[in-house]
Amino acid sequence: MGALGKIYNATSIVTMNSNGKINGITVAWITRVSIKPPMIAISIGKERYSHKLLEETDKFGICILSKEQMEIARYFGSRSGEKYNKFENVNYELTENGIPKIKNIVAFFECKIVNKADAGDHTIYIGKVEKEELLKTEIPLLYGEHKLI
Ligand SMILES: Cc1cc2nc3c(=O)[nH]c(=O)nc-3n(C[C@H](O)[C@H](O)[C@H](O)COP(=O)(O)O)c2cc1C
Repeated sequence: MGALGKIYNATSIVTMNSNGKINGITVAWITRVSIKPPMIAISIGKERYSHKLLEETDKFGICILSKEQMEIARYFGSRSGEKYNKFENVNYELTENGIPKIKNIVAFFECKIVNKADAGDHTIYIGKVEKEELLKTEIPLLYGEHKLI
């Protein structure tokens, strides 16, 4: 992994609802990209089921996980929502817009997709933050060098 592994990020579950089909995907490639208005970019592999759903909708949620939620990161990051309802065994609620929000997370954002960019085997979705909630003050679950810490 080398040098690229030194880029550490917060670990999130990006969630979406396309015409009633809900899904969530573990995403570590997430960053702030604008202050005014607040915007966040997420990078999603083109082969992911979540990519297909994001192409069908204009909103997504970002659940920033706590260090106690490593298993949730592994769970949402190791199977596809095409075959599983990943929310079956997870505590969550739906926002007014029907976006899944996992319980006990550190922070939550709801974003509207305002732009996207092609990035090799991924697509970068740029979301304008429409709702933000700080739920815990602790340092979130991080990902770098192939490890969750
Ligand atoms: C810690 C971790 C971080 C990940 N980060 C990303 C990411 O930033 N972008 C991405 O497309 N996939 C990422 N993945 C892989 C997806 O979460 C994984 O392929 C998932 O099963 C796709 O689910 P889906 O097919 O339901 O969309 C990550 C996986 C793990 C375990």
